[in-house]
Amino acid sequence: MQDYSRKIAERLWNQPDKGELESRREKTYMDDIIQKSHIERRLREILDGIETVFDGGAGSGRFSILLAKLGCRVTHFDLSRPMIEKAQALAAEAGVSDRIEFVQGALEELDAYADRSFDLVMSVDAPISYTYPRQERVIGNLVRLAKKRVLFSVASRLGALPYLCNPIQKNQFILDESCGDPFVRWCVDHRDEMIGSFAFDAERLRRVYQTGLLGGEEEMRAYDRGETPWCITYGFRPEELAGILGRLGVRNIRMAGPGAYGRTLPREILVKIMNDPQQKADFLDFCYAFDAEPSVCGLGKDNLLMDGEI
Ligand SMILES: C[S@@+](CC[C@H](N)C(=O)[O-])C[C@H]1O[C@@H](n2cnc3c(N)ncnc32)[C@H](O)[C@@H]1O
Repeated sequence: MQDYSRKIAERLWNQPDKGELESRREKTYMDDIIQKSHIERRLREILDGIETVFDGGAGSGRFSILLAKLGCRVTHFDLSRPMIEKAQALAAEAGVSDRIEFVQGALEELDAYADRSFDLVMSVDAPISYTYPRQERVIGNLVRLAKKRVLFSVASRLGALPYLCNPIQKNQFILDESCGDPFVRWCVDHRDEMIGSFAFDAERLRRVYQTGLLGGEEEMRAYDRGETPWCITYGFRPEELAGILGRLGVRNIRMAGPGAYGRTLPREILVKIMNDPQQKADFLDFCYAFDAEPSVCGLGKDNLLMDGEI
């Protein structure tokens, strides 16, 4: 399973169009707008005294470029060449290429970096969860690199359960159905078919609830057939991740579940809010407060966010 997990992640994230697709997320999907807004606000709050940042699984640069713009020196580390190339192009457009070092590599292999090399070590939007079954060792190594702070978002076990029962999950968050994005088109065109072929699978839900493991044998067989399945992913419980961080010496841990409030609203209402700048700003403010309530932590957009001090 260990080798498959890594091989599947490599094939998925190295698809040539992956960087381009990922970089458009906030223009296309409202859950991504909410998630980005939440993480950006939290980063701005904890940035005092942070000069150097390691962003592990930094993708197309959503946060590495933002942090470089805010004056940090950033190591943008990622498994995927297409993601790095997209991030390099966006960093050049933003005029911050000289503040970012781009490194292609795997989170499972961080031995080249010395202890406490970066003021802030972050890994956002689940890269840690794709390193199953080595996720705890990866977290240990990331914490080892941090001098002052860590900030991680991983796949959330509890947040994944409603999604597993909802094959049209992404439709709720499409901002503009006529925008021309190929995946938006696919979601709209296949909506009825996805509902038609859906059947409630209590056994599958119970299995994920108990083990946290999303994917397995089916994904390994698909990989062997030459297909590109979604990564084998480990979903954490909030107290589990907090426990791991606590045992590694991380203090003042703060948790959140970005997207918990947004997922309770229907698409029509979300679109109205997003299309009115004042309502959008007020809504994102409110989500930031609500989604940081410990009792909803983990229920957001399959993301469990946690940060703390070393
Ligand atoms: C969902 S994207 C998130 C990107 C970015 N952190 C963000 O929030 O926009 C996941 C990223 O993790 C990277 N990734 C997946 N497995 C990885 C691994 N084992 N080591 C390093 N990067 C990995 C992928 O290439 C991809 O760019």
